[in-house]
Amino acid sequence: MPKAKKANQYDDPSFNYLNYWDGRDYENAAEQIALKRLLKGMRFKHAADIGGGYGRLCVFLKDYASKVTLAEPSQQQLDIGKEFLQGHKNIDMVLTQSDDLKLKDKSVDLITVIRVMHHLPDPSKSFAEFKRVLSDDGILILEIANNAHALNRVRYALKGKGIPKDPVDIRSSKNRNDKEIAFVNHNPKTVIKQLAHEGLKVEKVLSVSNLRSPALKKVVPQAVMLNLEKAMQKPLAKSFFGPSTFLLIKKAS
Ligand SMILES: C[S@@+](CC[C@H](N)C(=O)[O-])C[C@H]1O[C@@H](n2cnc3c(N)ncnc32)[C@H](O)[C@@H]1O
Repeated sequence: MPKAKKANQYDDPSFNYLNYWDGRDYENAAEQIALKRLLKGMRFKHAADIGGGYGRLCVFLKDYASKVTLAEPSQQQLDIGKEFLQGHKNIDMVLTQSDDLKLKDKSVDLITVIRVMHHLPDPSKSFAEFKRVLSDDGILILEIANNAHALNRVRYALKGKGIPKDPVDIRSSKNRNDKEIAFVNHNPKTVIKQLAHEGLKVEKVLSVSNLRSPALKKVVPQAVMLNLEKAMQKPLAKSFFGPSTFLLIKKAS
């Protein structure tokens, strides 16, 4: 079988992903609201945050799991993580990528994959890996960069088009080459089918970051934004309203 292409594009000294989160408190909090909602009342032995970056969500996951593994293909992200996660016990780091996970079969009972799908134009092999490492009663939480969000639906409609079924490359024409990291938005309905094909079943959906807009963030107080976000995540899930879709997934029986 051909070796998986290395996914270490975040090894880039000119880019520190930690700084990306400056000014994105609303998005960070919106994602944690979603995770809290999906994980409510649950407790896990071993959580793995795949493509977890420098560990932004690993500290949060510690409240739900006895052990957390930050599974990440970029050594630079892990190096930033060493400092970010200093003093936090029970968080391991593994240099690995989603289509070739260095984790044992059925060794994890919670997998989270947040803000990684936009780098996976063809996620099928990764989905098979998630299924392999997930315990039989385990849970996968997958975030999708959603191309079918409400604003895009209007944009496509104005052009007389429907929402594409396939992933859409959102890189500038300058960056559309093999050297640049893939950057795609997905159609959630297609992803749900791809998951089903790998024996994974979606049980819950949330619409997340529903108010992601620099203009809104400037004028609406954050507390108000987050209360609205909380109220919107469930009712807007069915229509895939927001730019980010969270799925709670189990192994199909
Ligand atoms: C936008 S960052 C998100 C990091 C983290 N999940 C978060 O939400 O803070 C995307 C991460 O996905 C990782 N990544 C890219 N391709 C990957 C792959 N094939 N498998 C696993 N991780 C990957 C990158 O190295 C990067 O750390």
